[in-house]
Amino acid sequence: MQPVMLTIRDQIAHVVIDNPPVNALNQSVRAGMADAAAQVAGNDDIVGVVLSCAGRTFVSGADIRELGNPLQPYLPDVLAAIAGSPVPWVAALKGTTLGGGLELAMACHGRIADPAGKMGLPEVTLGILPGSGGTVRLPRLVTMELAIAMITGGKPIGAEQAQEAGLIDAVAQGELVEAAEAMVRSLAPGTPLLDRPLRSAEAVDWQAEEQALSRKSRGAAAPFEALAALRDAVRLPADQALAAERERFLRLSVSDEAKALRHIFFAERNAGGSLRTADATPADLLRVGVIGGGTMGAGIAVALLLAGSQVRLIERDGAAAATAQERVADMLAESAKRGVISDTERQDALYRLGAGDNYAVLADCPLVIEAVFEDMAVKREVFARLDAVMPADAILATNTSYLDVDALAEATADPGRVLGLHFFSPAHVMKLLEVVRGRTTSARAMATAGALARHLKKTAVVSGVCDGFIGNRIMNAYRRDCEFMLEEGALPHQIDAAMEGFGFAMGIYKVGDMSGLDIAWAQRKARAALRPANERYARIADRLCEAGRLGRKTGKGWYDYADGKPQIDPEVTRIIEEERAKAGHVRRDFTSSQIMDRILSIMQAEGQAILDEGIAETADDIDVVMVTGYGFPRHKGGPMFMRAAALASHGKTPEGLASAVLE
Ligand code: 3HC
Ligand code: NAI
Repeated sequence: MQPVMLTIRDQIAHVVIDNPPVNALNQSVRAGMADAAAQVAGNDDIVGVVLSCAGRTFVSGADIRELGNPLQPYLPDVLAAIAGSPVPWVAALKGTTLGGGLELAMACHGRIADPAGKMGLPEVTLGILPGSGGTVRLPRLVTMELAIAMITGGKPIGAEQAQEAGLIDAVAQGELVEAAEAMVRSLAPGTPLLDRPLRSAEAVDWQAEEQALSRKSRGAAAPFEALAALRDAVRLPADQALAAERERFLRLSVSDEAKALRHIFFAERNAGGSLRTADATPADLLRVGVIGGGTMGAGIAVALLLAGSQVRLIERDGAAAATAQERVADMLAESAKRGVISDTERQDALYRLGAGDNYAVLADCPLVIEAVFEDMAVKREVFARLDAVMPADAILATNTSYLDVDALAEATADPGRVLGLHFFSPAHVMKLLEVVRGRTTSARAMATAGALARHLKKTAVVSGVCDGFIGNRIMNAYRRDCEFMLEEGALPHQIDAAMEGFGFAMGIYKVGDMSGLDIAWAQRKARAALRPANERYARIADRLCEAGRLGRKTGKGWYDYADGKPQIDPEVTRIIEEERAKAGHVRRDFTSSQIMDRILSIMQAEGQAILDEGIAETADDIDVVMVTGYGFPRHKGGPMFMRAAALASHGKTPEGLASAVLE
């Protein structure tokens, strides 16, 4: 089938792009569009063109698989042919009009959108910038302030805002293509967009814009190139600005950053492969039980409520249930305050919540998720009680961070219905879900986990049972090595600075202080008896905990928080020096790159072990866990991608990295 069809009705040419699933502008679509533009130019009977798309969306961008590998005809040439058409083109926009799709729409002479439509230039999220006139055309339609926000931030805007801003001419009332046809018939020939001045004439403080980007970009280069391209749009005539934009686009398309971001784009979409092929009917998610309404249980309840489920929240007693209910209400209120949900949605969500201490109400829940204290005895007791009240086919999940899911499953009569659902804090915000498959977990339990991830719009990755599953196991491995570096001469703020310089949102010690040092301490104590006597062990973290320094919540941890911000604490330095002396290390200096080399090599070695043991399904899944759950900079693609890229640069073939874009 042709991806671009042209039909003529009453002197209007209807050009329809049909390239499922998102009408990406691949080579054959560009060729079809070039052909359509030539047909229109050569037919004097045609008085206007309506450009629309089949399926659920207008064009959602260039075909990401072709980026870095330009094929003719090139998009800028196709757009120039449309912009220079002897008759007007009107783009009928529905769904998501993104990247090259919005550039295509801007090359048309009019734009009309469905009220639910969204428009944006998300190229920076792929390590590139708009490469077909986006930085030159957008500031001729909207203010430079909005153009900067859209192009350097990559976030789309809605149809209503787009109309107010001048990006589109109208929001369709009624049928979109009919409204577009009415618009094209009424369109008078105007000055070509590229011959028009920029929409806003006021000077931009480019230095201030750059500084603002530095605070947000965590070391990514593309947003700065995008800003520079917009500056070109101000300084240069349109044709020169277009040429400069294209040069930047082609250069960035083959950058390491763009390859890494393309890798993670596809890795996220392919994550949790076996969940999608699970051959069983999932449990219904209309009513879900949650046991424990602390930090995690309340967050999981909010995630479920926001997705439309009814939630039965069970706590230890009536008072704890009331506190948990309040916690959920506060989280929903916060979401409403931040504009994530409306006040009506908040009230509706709260209405679907029931909290109490009676397990009997769970009898009609096909799925229950346990999030009580991280204590095997407490959890086993909860699972035994659940086993007694839940219907035989109900699925029982635990949110444990470290505990053995198989041992927990043994507390039930049918261990096949037990699995781990490891959410991340805050559970209603964080996108990652580790689905822990136990030795006997059934296909139905796995299918339910897949359905739940889709229901909650989370990215699910499957992990086998091991200490810490994929993410916490890797984090524990490099955290341990960071403490060895402290013993050898580094200080916490140096390690944090090295990680932040690499692109982590926060270094490991600031993260530790934020989440509290006691959970990992309890885990170390529980494991102490099993530790081989000759295993290297740094006692620094234990000493901090013994001194009551449990992180932000106690005002002190790796840092001092007396004035709210993390300050280097001489007391911590003293403890580190004492432990260094006891371990017999001579202090040595670490550079940031030495610190990062060690952290990365530990992450990669642990990642490889996780793969070799069959804990993770693919190396890509490990990258997804680290990027979406542990603050690994997205524009570096993940530790396994970096390892594969390094191996490839030495002529070696990386194993197991399915979607790596290493050419
Ligand atoms: N190219 C190739 N494939 C794409 C694609 C694209 N631009 N956008 C989406 N896809 C594929 C996905 O890989 C997925 O494939 P799969 O089913 O085989 O896994 C399928 O389309 C559906 O995608 P999602 O699962 O993401 O579906 P959603 O409905 O959740 O989201 C979307 C749809 C909002 C369009 C989202 O896919 C998206 O954000 N896509 C990327 C958009 C983008 O970044 N466009 C800019 C591209 S760069 C560009 O245009 C350069 C230009 O300036 C020259
Ligand atoms: P928390 O201490 O904030 O909450 C635990 C809640 O469980 C408390 O409200 C407590 O009253 C309740 N509870 C205890 N025993 C109960 C019982 N028998 N019946 C019903 N309710 C009971 O703990 P948090 O942080 O929410 O952790 C819960 C689980 O989630 C743990 O297994 C933890 O390892 C895991 N987890 C924690 C993360 C975090 O960042 N805090 C992240 C991911 C998982």
